[in-house]
Amino acid sequence: MAEARKIIIDTDPGQDDAVAILLALASPELEVIGITAVAGNVPLSLTSKNARKICELAGRPGTKVFAGADRPLMRQLVTAEEVHGQTGLNGPDLPEPTMPLQAQHAVDFIVETLMREESGAVTLCPLGPLTNVALALVREPRIAPRIREIVLMGGGYFEQGNVTPSAEFNIYVDPHAADIVFRSGVPIVMMPLDVTHKALTTAARVAAFRALGTGVGEATARMLEFFERFDEEKYGTDGGPLHDPCVIAWLLRPDLFKGRHCNVAVETASELTMGATIVDWWGVTQRPRNAHVMRDIDHEGFFALLVERLGRL
Ligand code: RIB
Ligand code: CA
Repeated sequence: MAEARKIIIDTDPGQDDAVAILLALASPELEVIGITAVAGNVPLSLTSKNARKICELAGRPGTKVFAGADRPLMRQLVTAEEVHGQTGLNGPDLPEPTMPLQAQHAVDFIVETLMREESGAVTLCPLGPLTNVALALVREPRIAPRIREIVLMGGGYFEQGNVTPSAEFNIYVDPHAADIVFRSGVPIVMMPLDVTHKALTTAARVAAFRALGTGVGEATARMLEFFERFDEEKYGTDGGPLHDPCVIAWLLRPDLFKGRHCNVAVETASELTMGATIVDWWGVTQRPRNAHVMRDIDHEGFFALLVERLGRL
């Protein structure tokens, strides 16, 4: 097998983040060289704890977990306990983590790793607000050409927003950080709501995780049953969108996705549309095509991959 692809997961767990982390840790094609926590779904004290809970659930207590920014660059932190619960991981009753949090700040870890590793060897996988990634890019601009790719969950275009009529949560929480990232020149693969809303955790799919008969399978089923109720109520669907695992699934099976290279720009001026991701899908501007924007997914194949891989833990 080819050498494992080195990734850093930047995350605000969050049940969907948790499933993405489990998928990555279960997949030998990937080497998770670090997990960096950021404030988002819940405050940093919880996201940095939840990331460790998930590593221990996966049987990977040696994974390095770092704490990063506890608030956005410019705006006040907006969290989403109404979706994820007070702990951010409501659903299963996971034990307090025993593995340590790394002493180094997440931003320093990202910079140091990218300057040490061979140029083009490391992929960043942001699953939450982009505060840590933006801080790293500003702190050490030399990392930009050294990043192989940024594969992120965030934004929405045809689907518009989920936290305001026009903005998706990760971008809305820190639009200034997102603006820095999308202007960075680093190759970006974007998983917006347009594709994640086509990956629904239907009852049959939740049952498939439970049918694994493992601790990971049961915990995943309980996480999804808690997480999906908010979106089922809002959208009237069977199941809720499973956002963040789309990032890791793309690394493993890019053939499951379809998209287009476009310009993506972030609204940072208007309070009405703050955090909107403006995607030039029809190429009507001369703005640089800075992102590969995904819009379609083979959702059957996606969930089959998830169940098979989580079954290995
Ligand atoms: O809008 C969905 C995104 O916001 C996901 O990453 C979810 O975990 C929350 O962070
Ligand atoms: Ca997330």
